[in-house]
Amino acid sequence: MMKIVTPITELRTQINEWRNNKQCIALVPTMGNLHDGHFTLVQQALAIADRVVVSIFVNPLQFGATEDYQTYPRTLAEDSEKLAQLGVHLLFNPMVTTIYPSGMESTTSIQVPKLSEILCGASRPVFFKGVATVVNILFNLIQPDKALFGEKDYQQLLIIKRMAADLFIPIQIIGVPIVREPDGLAMSSRNHYLNPAQRVVAPYLFQILNEMKTKIAASQREFTRLESEAIESLKQLGFNPDYVSVRCRHDLTIPTPQDKKLIILAAAWLGPARLIDNIFCDL
Ligand code: PAF
Repeated sequence: MMKIVTPITELRTQINEWRNNKQCIALVPTMGNLHDGHFTLVQQALAIADRVVVSIFVNPLQFGATEDYQTYPRTLAEDSEKLAQLGVHLLFNPMVTTIYPSGMESTTSIQVPKLSEILCGASRPVFFKGVATVVNILFNLIQPDKALFGEKDYQQLLIIKRMAADLFIPIQIIGVPIVREPDGLAMSSRNHYLNPAQRVVAPYLFQILNEMKTKIAASQREFTRLESEAIESLKQLGFNPDYVSVRCRHDLTIPTPQDKKLIILAAAWLGPARLIDNIFCDL
């Protein structure tokens, strides 16, 4: 039977009981509107822990002033039904005032410099501070042994790993591969923003990343030119690209000729949806 918990006191009582019984706890933090990408995280969490906590919290701190905080899809009834079916033990669904008792403007925040300023951080300046802060709060409230995050937000995953390492947070951070629609589009709650015509175009983002990967595998090493060509192709298709970038997988720096484990990342607007995607590329 899945418990749905809002107050912190109730959350703590349950967590303490599990910890006293030496049970391994895994956390899957989400903003709800769950899809198969989230359910894969949950299934993996269930396979590696005794107790699984899923949090659903649309975190206002990670949305810019002009972004979609108010309209972000909220589907708690469907989400909780599905999580209960999967066998999740506790759904934590806090209120904004519970997470930020001093108010959002006055709350203590976590900044992961450099890594938060590039790629998505360049066009979404408050995003990663909001993510790192809320994830740290959730870690402190739930004190899980493991926490699982999707690799679609690869920069977010690295920032959380860096935060955990720098602050000596004793939680294993686990990245889980992207789950895709049959046509290749990476699953995302924001895919619902696409109209039918945009939805047909959206999978080209992944196709273009795949084409870049093929070219790099065929020894093309002029990454800047490949990035510009990809941006041009995206524009031709009707995207408004934010970036396409070949980076080192371990720290998202620009690769040197010695670097062999790469990742190609992209973010592009398609109508009202800002889509992100990435693909690993080993030389
Ligand atoms: O990836 C998300 O859904 C969010 O950024 C997260 C990690 C739940 C923090 O609000």
